[in-house]
Amino acid sequence: MEINTLKDLYVEGLQDLYSAENQILKALPRMIKKTSHRQLQVAFTQHMKETERQIQRLERICKDLGVKPKGKKCHGMEGLLEEAKELIDEKPAPDALDAGLISKAQHVEHYEMAGYGTMRTYARILGFQNHVDLLQQTLDEEGNTDKLLTELSEGINLDADEGEAEVESRRFGRSGGSAKKGGAKRAAKKAGAKKGGARKGSARKGGAKRGARAGSLRSRTSTLVGA
Ligand SMILES: [Fe+2]
Repeated sequence: MEINTLKDLYVEGLQDLYSAENQILKALPRMIKKTSHRQLQVAFTQHMKETERQIQRLERICKDLGVKPKGKKCHGMEGLLEEAKELIDEKPAPDALDAGLISKAQHVEHYEMAGYGTMRTYARILGFQNHVDLLQQTLDEEGNTDKLLTELSEGINLDADEGEAEVESRRFGRSGGSAKKGGAKRAAKKAGAKKGGARKGSARKGGAKRGARAGSLRSRTSTLVGA
């Protein structure tokens, strides 16, 4: 399509988002299936339902403008989802896969937020207040999903980090004395360099704190799905 005005850019951007959302809708079932983390499954499932509503909002806006929502392939989203697929195909350990899927999903959310933020600004300048409201609803949903993923990542990243410690201890166990010494050195370095030992210890052994966080997340994800 020929692009000469802000309205042309607006239509093109809406079609781009429509393509992006439909690609996400297609990719999410596999991400839901591949994660073994219950709360992450709930978060992805919840976002799938939101994505369906977001697609309907874009259809409403395009109808209002008298244009078709289809017409452009979002190559940015295609690339982000291809990276998520590559991660799954690598068959990582379950905790590492969950942590990696959160990272991929947050890349997707931030990409969408950039697109919706721009379209909302265009809609405001072009005087489509009803579009501004619809786009803002989607923007809020994307932002809330991103925040929820950040909260989930706090526990899941630690679990993936523990997986690394298990791999290391198995490796050192097999390779004898000098490796064990190396293991101790590495553990000390790890504790000192990134304060990982203290943070991890307090998060794991401090069951009350971790339990409270998990409880609040559980209630949040339950509220989101209306469970
Ligand atoms: Fe979306």
